[in-house]
Amino acid sequence: MQALANDIDAALTENGNILELRSSRESSQQIVSTTDLLRPDNALLAEVVADRRALFVVTPTVNALYGAQLKRYIESALEQPGSELLVLDVTEAKKDLNGVDVVVTRATQMGLDRESPIVAIGGGVCLDIVGVSAALFRRGVPNIKVPTTLVGLIDAGVGTKNAVNFGGKKNLLGTFSSPEASLLDSKFLSTLPIRYIRAGAAEMFKMAIISDPHLFHILRAHSDEFQQSRFQAPRTAAAEAIKRSVVEILRELSLNLYERSKQRVLDFGHTFSPYIESESGFRVSHGEAVSIDMAISTEISYALGIVDEGVRRQILDALAGFSLPLSWSGIDAVEMYSSLRSIRQHRNGALHLVAPSALGHPVFLEDEDIDESLIKSCIENLAERKRAYS
Ligand SMILES: NC(=O)c1ccc[n+]([C@@H]2O[C@H](COP(=O)([O-])OP(=O)(O)OC[C@H]3O[C@@H](n4cnc5c(N)ncnc54)[C@H](O)[C@@H]3O)[C@@H](O)[C@H]2O)c1
Ligand SMILES: [Zn+2]
Repeated sequence: MQALANDIDAALTENGNILELRSSRESSQQIVSTTDLLRPDNALLAEVVADRRALFVVTPTVNALYGAQLKRYIESALEQPGSELLVLDVTEAKKDLNGVDVVVTRATQMGLDRESPIVAIGGGVCLDIVGVSAALFRRGVPNIKVPTTLVGLIDAGVGTKNAVNFGGKKNLLGTFSSPEASLLDSKFLSTLPIRYIRAGAAEMFKMAIISDPHLFHILRAHSDEFQQSRFQAPRTAAAEAIKRSVVEILRELSLNLYERSKQRVLDFGHTFSPYIESESGFRVSHGEAVSIDMAISTEISYALGIVDEGVRRQILDALAGFSLPLSWSGIDAVEMYSSLRSIRQHRNGALHLVAPSALGHPVFLEDEDIDESLIKSCIENLAERKRAYS
């Protein structure tokens, strides 16, 4: 083998009649916390955009709540004139390539160059569409993410994945591409409807149960106040809960940034949930389905003698205490078991069901560990428990 070229971007070698170009792309992402991001005297956003023109993208709800402030910021605080604001009318049902089309069309019209960022300010839907758009436009322009929902703050806004739905399948088309910066301002949550606060809390519990017992205790201790105040109070505990969730997710992602390993602890709560979401016609939201999935996975772990009664109870009580569901009456155990076929497809043929063995300690369960009847009895137990609660 002979090295023909070896520079920073790629190494070229020759081996007989095979030329091989190997590359590993470096990326770096700044994740910065702030408050009152859009106040004219907060320089963070202007500093991150720096001397570039930017395309800002928001959805109608965020525009109604924060659009006037954002326009003022764009007009008065940015270094360069010529940045534009696009209000993109999308929802989960319309998180598709049409949204990407609208963003890149506007980027083309305004003559955005390769160095200029596309800035998404919104929930996961907006962040995802803009993330895909930025990755595709001119083969990739900088992307800045400003999450305004709890799911955005602790998940969609800090990760490297971007995806849109395609052919009726959720998140089928997408990219792994790190944003240049994620700017986190939890004050945006003060206007977020409560069901989205709970949806985000389900993802925080996911992190807490599999990797951060301290986060679990913070969420439990303040569950009422966190819900009422939308994570604005008690201030220190709320900030710590969000920070720990972000750190935990980044830690897990950093171990497996491109998902080469299909054994992902972040899949906790995400094995049965796709079935529950779609079977309910999406009346059970993603966060609610994640909660039910975590409850079922915990129950399975208990039935197999992996997790003890005390931890099982703590987990189920904590979810219920955050007004998150543990069961849904529409589940058909046989159908849910069959739905695991497409989950295995996504995980190289293996089930890799994540379940807790203790707080902060996940295990992976495989096909030989579970069957239809086990799932059925776990669902029945949870339904019983729900009746006991109500
Ligand atoms: N790329 C990733 O890594 C990743 C991770 C998790 C989730 N996601 C995706 O994120 C999406 C879910 O995101 P979501 O839960 O943020 O939902 P969402 O983006 O649909 O936002 C929820 C609702 O809240 C509104 N909203 C946003 N900010 C608000 C605010 N501050 N005040 C009031 N209303 C506000 C939105 O307009 C929307 O109606 C899904 O499509 C999911 O696939 C992606
Ligand atoms: Zn999720």
